[in-house]
This record gives sequence, C-alpha cells and structure tokens, in this order.
Amino acid sequence: MKEKKIDNFTIFIFDEVYDPADDSLLLADNLAVNPGDLVIEVGSGCGIISILAAAKGGKRVVAIDVSPPAARNTLYNVRVNGMEGVIDVLVADLLNAIKPEEMFDVVLFNPPYLPVEEDGILEASWSGGKTGREVIERFIENVRNYIKFDGRCQIVLSSLMKPQTVIRKLKKIGFKAELVAEKRFFFEKICVVTFHRSASSCPPDQGGDRLHPLTPL
Ligand SMILES: C[S@@+](CC[C@H](N)C(=O)[O-])C[C@H]1O[C@@H](n2cnc3c(N)ncnc32)[C@H](O)[C@@H]1O
Repeated sequence: MKEKKIDNFTIFIFDEVYDPADDSLLLADNLAVNPGDLVIEVGSGCGIISILAAAKGGKRVVAIDVSPPAARNTLYNVRVNGMEGVIDVLVADLLNAIKPEEMFDVVLFNPPYLPVEEDGILEASWSGGKTGREVIERFIENVRNYIKFDGRCQIVLSSLMKPQTVIRKLKKIGFKAELVAEKRFFFEKICVVTFHRSASSCPPDQGGDRLHPLTPL
C-alpha cells in the first residue's frame, strides 16, 4: 500500500487500485462542484476525487466503482479523512445501482480510456477496449437520466480515444461542452470537459457550444 498527500488529504492506495496520476490530478484541480451539490463519482479508485468533491462542499457524494478493492480503498480513505457522513461507497457497474428517480447536480468520471483490451481488476482502470471508448460510451447511454436540468457531468478525455466522438454523442443528447483544462504530453493530450445539461439546451448543431474553437485533440 502506498501513501500520498494530495491537497492536505492523506490518501492510501491499495495494490490493486489505480494510483492517482496526471489525469486524476487534472480533474482534481478543476472540479466543478459547488457547496450543497449532490455528486456522483463513477470509477472512484482510491477515492481522492470523491474526497475533494466533499471538501468543496458537496452535500452528499456517492462514490461508485466496479472493482471491489477500489470500493474498499475509497471507503478506507473516506474513513481516514473523516468523511463517512458525506460519502457513500458502492460497488457497481457505472450508474446501474442508482435509482432512476435520483437526480444529481454533478456526475464525475475519470474513465478507463486507453485503446487496449486488457483483463484484470487493475487493468480495468485504463482499459477502454479496442476504441478506448467502450466504457465511456456505455456511461453516456443513460447519464442524462441522473443529472438535474441545470446540472453537469465532468469527464477526463484523451487524444488516444478520439474524444470528438464522445463530445459529439453528448452534444447529441443535449449537453453543451466546455473545455476546462488540458495537459499535453509527447504522446498524448488529456483534458477535462464539463458537459452542461440545461433545460434550454439547443439541439446539437444549433449553437450554444462553449467549446469553440475546439482545440484539436
Ligand atoms: C482511471 S481510474 C480513476 C480512479 C480515480 N477516480 C482517479 O481519478 O484516480 C478508473 C476507475 O474506473 C473504474 N471503472 C472501470 N470500469 C468501471 C465501470 N464499468 N463502472 C464503475 N467503475 C469502473 C476502475 O476500477 C478505476 O478505479
């Protein structure tokens, strides 16, 4: 087990759990969580993002991971950092465990996005299937059902998984995309995009997109 200090929180990372990396920190530094928000984090890993969401004033945070060791790790760090009253932890596939009538202000996801097909509990942290989009595309199918009309969804995307395809799909179901942060490496660019759901959101291709001009990924 490793130990890290992130933003004044002591975070332990179990052996079979994703060690927070540049993607985690880019999301951590740009969390669109406001005091009083109801938050879901999908793919909580060691729990750092959920803990920071709670520290930003999230009223209730539901941390979900499909990996039992990751869920146990999240719960461990929630307890170490005294956040039991705010953060609930679930083992589940994406949003399948959430009741359809539950609506949230923010849904966060740093998904597995590498275009590789690797099996294993830890590998599920980065393995996004052949396209890199297999997990995120399943997530997109019903995420809108869980987001309030003025709510949002924040996702980490990578140049390795054709992020424009993901952006297009979310726009098609009425979200407006806002690029909030990006980081470039010699082999990859990663970014955090906030997708705003709005009661007045235009159908796709009829304007209202704050991502223009879209930086090519
Ligand atoms: C890149 S890691 C991110 C971990 C943590 N949120 C962070 O930023 O450091 C992706 C996480 O998503 C989880 N995951 C993968 N597929 C999932 C699914 N279908 N449902 C829920 N969680 C999933 C993995 O187990 C892993 O913990």
